[in-house]
Parts: sequence; C-alpha cells; structure tokens
Amino acid sequence: MKNSVPSLICRSLLAATVIALTGCKTLPPPKPIDQLTQQEQAGRVAFATNCGACHYDRQNGSLHGPSLLGTYKKDYLPSGAPVSDDHITHTIMFGRGNMPSLGAQVGRDDIADILAYLKTL
Ligand code: HEC
Repeated sequence: MKNSVPSLICRSLLAATVIALTGCKTLPPPKPIDQLTQQEQAGRVAFATNCGACHYDRQNGSLHGPSLLGTYKKDYLPSGAPVSDDHITHTIMFGRGNMPSLGAQVGRDDIADILAYLKTL
C-alpha cells in the first residue's frame, strides 16, 4: 500500500527535519540595555547619532539600510561579505552602495564603541 500509516509518519518526520534544518533560525535576543557596559552604552549613543537614521538596531526591517539586529550572530552581512570588525569599519569610513562615507564625522573611538554595541545586538 502506497500511503500506509508508517510511510506517512515517516514522510512527516522527514519534512519536519528538513524544516528544522533549513527553516529560519531565530537569533538570541540582544543584550538588555540595562546590562550594557560603559563602552557598549557609549556605542549605543554613537549609533543613535550616526547610524540610527538609516539602520534599526533592536528590531528587524529596513530603514534606508538593512537592520543591524543580530549582525555579529550571523556569518554574513547583507552584501555577502563575512561579518568582521574590519569590513564594518571600512563600510563606516568609506561607505558602500547607497551608504555614504562617514569617515569625516565618526572618529576611531566612536567606531570601536559602535562595534562593541553591534556585538550586543
Ligand atoms: C544615510 C543612511 C546611512 C547611514 C547614516 C548609515 N548607513 Fe549603513 N547602510 C546604509 C545603506 C543604504 C546600506 C546598504 C548599502 C548597500 O550595500 O547598498 C548600508 C549598509 C550597512 C552595512 C552592511 C554592509 C554590508 O556589507 O552588507 C553595515 C554593517 C552598516 N551599513 C553599518 C552602518 C553603521 C555602523 C553606521 C553608523 C556609523 C551606518 N551604517 C550609517 C545607509 C546608511
């Protein structure tokens, strides 16, 4: 018999496994704001000043650019580049695509703080 009960169960288990392995992973939530270190908190402020007009930090969805929620919990950035301090620093300093270069307004210390904050998201 083609659709015997065991074969149906077997196929649903297979389907469930495939969904579990390929389905969208939910990332762990960001570190609560009241637990941020001094540097992470400074980064949050610098983010609000320099990035917040174009990027969400604590929620999904695009503003002008992609949400940066969970950036360091993923392997790749939206461009496909691997997530790294160097790539993000370069993106901030020189821009990319529709993102303007912010090197003139965001200092090295601010970038370090912003990266620390992004790692909590
Ligand atoms: C004027 C709007 C604007 C501002 C301000 C801005 N961004 Fe962006 N950002 C964008 C856009 C648009 C993209 C998508 C660029 C593309 O790949 O075309 C982007 C992309 C990115 C990416 C993904 C790069 C990749 O390789 O996929 C990162 C990370 C990022 N921005 C970080 C920041 C940070 C951190 C700040 C603040 C220091 C910032 N952005 C400020 C508009 C902005």
